[in-house]
Amino acid sequence: MRVLGIETSCDETSVACVGPDGVASNLISSQVDLHAKFGGVVPELASRAHLTNLLPVISVALDEAGWTLDDVEAVAATSGPGLIGAVLIGLTGAKTLAWSRGIPFVGVHHIEGHILANGIDTPMEFPALALVVSGGHTETVAVRAPGAYRRIGATLDDAAGETFDKTAKLLGLPYPGGPQIQRVAVHGDPTAVPLPRGLARRDSLDFSFSGLKTAVRLAIEALGPDPAPQAIADIAASLQEAIVDTLIDKTRRALRVVDGVRGIYLAGGVAANGPLRERFAALAAEERVAFTPPRLGYCTDNAAMIAWAGRLRLLQRGGDAFDLPAFARGGLPSWADA
Ligand code: KG4
Ligand code: ZN
Repeated sequence: MRVLGIETSCDETSVACVGPDGVASNLISSQVDLHAKFGGVVPELASRAHLTNLLPVISVALDEAGWTLDDVEAVAATSGPGLIGAVLIGLTGAKTLAWSRGIPFVGVHHIEGHILANGIDTPMEFPALALVVSGGHTETVAVRAPGAYRRIGATLDDAAGETFDKTAKLLGLPYPGGPQIQRVAVHGDPTAVPLPRGLARRDSLDFSFSGLKTAVRLAIEALGPDPAPQAIADIAASLQEAIVDTLIDKTRRALRVVDGVRGIYLAGGVAANGPLRERFAALAAEERVAFTPPRLGYCTDNAAMIAWAGRLRLLQRGGDAFDLPAFARGGLPSWADA
């Protein structure tokens, strides 16, 4: 089945063509420049940009895949969670296209897209454990099979990506902050600034980054105006180390709780972080479970993951009704038998 996927949940307008041979195209029109001067995504501007970009991006994605509209057999789109206005543009576009062509439509949970993207290049091993780390989410999900999810830990306050982004902003680094922190951290000493590891001593699978965020803010304020580049690099390296330590520690604990895990996976934008990928690979080797670092283009928001996940569900369960609502927030529902 040849599926056209649409992702517009935040600041990327993305369209992908995915067929039986895999990803035929995956176009991402980034709005980073539009939002950079505001230091974060402005929801109304994002919606307007999606509206302007969607049809041209669909047509380039079809061209790159060597498809025409006649080749599209189903349409998948992110139905949430995300910025509601932004989600609505892609979801409505997908429904309209599917309805006008008389083909099935499926709404995909954004986090499910991130998780199942791990299977695009290499088949995933199930039961699996997925660490979802994006701008808005930090959670651990036990995945028995595609469509069978159980959340076993989640952040009690801020997300890992948000902690990267807010710290970068305080350091005067551009948006999005995660890649900038990683870049600057290369020159820093990760032990230079002592920072807390949230809920480290608690026997819990949940995460907390608010204490870390406050501690790093105080450390930055203590530097005074115009901090030296080395001081900025030390803070970046120490923050990155604290976040990665916490994520690895909680994943190791989760492996003790979920039986028979055969593969561990990273999902979401923060999965692009180099040190996190290296430490995750070391953990997988230590625990003798499979892990393949996801391709960078499939970590941050993209439509290939939506088309891929949508296609799996369409093949197993069929599509959704056209009155499927968009949603801003909400957990990951299972659609396969538990
Ligand atoms: O999944 P995503 O593209 O969008 C959401 O669904 O939120 O994740 C975006 C997040 C941002 O917080 C960004 O700073 C972070 O992913 N990120 C990174 C890196 N690349 C992106 N964080 C750390 N290191 C990176 N290399
Ligand atoms: Zn995302």
